[in-house]
Amino acid sequence: MHHLHPLAFAPTWQRIQMDSILIQGGCPLNGSVQTSGAKNAALPLLAAAILTDKPVTFQRMPHLCDITTMITLLANQGADVSMDDQDRLRIDTAPSNNPEAPYELVKTMRASALVLGPLLARFGRARVSLPGGCAIGARPMDLHLKGLEAMGAKISVEHGYVDAKVEKKLHGAHIAFDKVTVTGTENLMMAAALADGETILDNAAREPEVVNLAESLRNMGADIENDGSSCIRIRGVESLSGGELEVIADRIEAATYLAAGLISGGEVTTRDINPDLLDTFLSRLRDAGAIVETGKDWIRCSASNRLRAVNIETSPHPGFPTDLQAQFMAIMCIAEGSSVIRENIFENRFMHVQELRRMGARIVLNGNMAVVEGVEKLSGAPVMATDLRASASLVLAGLAATGETTISRVYHIDRGYERIEEKLGQLGASIRRITPHTDMFWRPDFATS
Ligand code: EPZ
Repeated sequence: MHHLHPLAFAPTWQRIQMDSILIQGGCPLNGSVQTSGAKNAALPLLAAAILTDKPVTFQRMPHLCDITTMITLLANQGADVSMDDQDRLRIDTAPSNNPEAPYELVKTMRASALVLGPLLARFGRARVSLPGGCAIGARPMDLHLKGLEAMGAKISVEHGYVDAKVEKKLHGAHIAFDKVTVTGTENLMMAAALADGETILDNAAREPEVVNLAESLRNMGADIENDGSSCIRIRGVESLSGGELEVIADRIEAATYLAAGLISGGEVTTRDINPDLLDTFLSRLRDAGAIVETGKDWIRCSASNRLRAVNIETSPHPGFPTDLQAQFMAIMCIAEGSSVIRENIFENRFMHVQELRRMGARIVLNGNMAVVEGVEKLSGAPVMATDLRASASLVLAGLAATGETTISRVYHIDRGYERIEEKLGQLGASIRRITPHTDMFWRPDFATS
């Protein structure tokens, strides 16, 4: 009889989820890294393919788990998914006939809710699972639903699903969001693109990803103005054409690699990214004493001395991005002095704190405020990823720490970072992914008959 690794009995998905990343800290990162297309721009662009029965091709589509989920969702609705002769993703929703987003897919990626507006606009009906809870907060979608009802949709929520329908067509409306919501703005912008009449989105999100969506919709024939401001105007058109949509650079990915250079005492340049997308983040790095150089499409960061602690608070664009709060906290863990970090967007986005503490970080929490007292050095430790950006901050801390850091549940990282260990390895990090092999023989300590 031979012993098998316990994982041998695990379902495949559990084995994949057992991947971890091993980092040997203390190597300064130097060099340049290519910025991928932005996950948070690509997801609404994919949903926009529902708005037309003509094929859409995508430039700079990142290879990420969340993107695969969204593509699977579109295929599940009947869309034809292929690569064109220039190896670009091509989506043709002409054959689509199933305006649904099932729980099995939505529970793994809440941004699936972005298909709701497009399905209603194209088919007049939609059945989309509620996303359910999320590590960083309740993440309701009441503002999405309220806006669609204002446009004439009849919406009921039963058995965990949003059932939406509209008699003929959605009509324009003046919608004032109680809170700035990125995907809420995107969902309603897409719904309004084919509605009867004019829609005004007040208190709209100003994120670059919203502007990328508006530009893409205009390329498809939509009539949209003032995107990038907090008051967007959309005049509905009869139909939209297909086209070639380009995903903008991932500002969060780029900032994470710049942070990796700083925290490890090196110098990293990110390529193919407009520095204007990271204005506030870069200005806070300068306040901390970092040397930040920029060009038309690149950013370089380094520091000749230990960084100084600075305070930040997250807010909608153009404020400090909540998606960079955890990464900035990692930098502040070894800065000189104390930094106050306020998280104003999500109610539970400090899950990385208890893991950073395991590495010697000195952080005190009080509601939505974290006070970080910088220490000289962090020490490597086994830690656990809890959500996408929290896991990025653990990678950064591991790069700076003395000794070895093992980060488990790295599927969180794979949702938003393309080949992270490859890109960091190219910059000089000592990092590798560990996939437990179920053909490993497991030798129990105890003797067995
Ligand atoms: C988008 O999420 C991003 N995701 C998030 O990135 C990002 O953190 C967030 O915007 C804020 O910038 C994508 O674009 C796919 P919100 P979204 O609606 O749209 C509340 C990452 O790490 N709210 O702008 O879901 C909500 O609870 C992810 O890449 C309502 O109350 O966020 C939150 O407190 C994480 N009702 C605030 O608004 C609603 O109907 C902002 O959320 C909608 C939102």
